[in-house]
Amino acid sequence: MKITIISGSHRAKSQSEKVARYIQSTLLNKELADQAEIYSLANNPLPLWDEAIWQGDEQWQARLSPISQQLDESDAFVVIAPEYHGQAPAGLKNFFLMWKTELSHKPALLVSVSSVDGGAYPIAELRMSSYKNNRLCYIPEQVIVRHVESVLNDNPDDNNPETDHYFRQRITWTLGILKQYALALTAVRESGATQTDKFTNGM
Ligand SMILES: Cc1cc2nc3c(=O)[nH]c(=O)nc-3n(C[C@H](O)[C@H](O)[C@H](O)COP(=O)(O)O)c2cc1C
Repeated sequence: MKITIISGSHRAKSQSEKVARYIQSTLLNKELADQAEIYSLANNPLPLWDEAIWQGDEQWQARLSPISQQLDESDAFVVIAPEYHGQAPAGLKNFFLMWKTELSHKPALLVSVSSVDGGAYPIAELRMSSYKNNRLCYIPEQVIVRHVESVLNDNPDDNNPETDHYFRQRITWTLGILKQYALALTAVRESGATQTDKFTNGM
């Protein structure tokens, strides 16, 4: 089981990456995945999408190929979205312009991050728009890490004991569900029912 965690923050030192690292260690320590890699969008490693991608531009190919392989080999994803002005970050929306079949019919867990009590908007946005052509399957469970600075820190003194305990338990439970969707959806892809040269985009 290989799970890729996409950390959607633009910031070099971000709360999303802290949450990503916690999820990575939970996946590995609880033996929910054999491999759990983080792909971080910090410092905007992907330029804005442009049409040269569709023309097989060499620079784009060199940039995207290693990530394409990683995504293609993944059985499931965790998508972490901090709330920026009530939206998903632009870098994350840009990420979703780059790939299609590598994500198709694979489950993804949405995790949003807010320093206060926000976090619902990026979930709603990504559930509405981000999966149509790549056919990523967001599972019904989601995690909204509110007041993120006070949970999931390595130093217990930095955590609110009650909410930290809750999020650790909740994340572990939700990752267990993600794993089961990953196992189940393998059968869907292997059935051949999803293959098509005709309907290459969603409706
Ligand atoms: C540009 C920007 C806009 C933000 N807008 C919101 C917002 O609308 N709602 C919210 O709850 N938090 C907002 N925040 C605070 C973030 O929730 C907080 O900074 C969080 O740590 C961001 O995640 P990151 O550290 O992974 O980048 C905003 C932060 C930034 C940098």
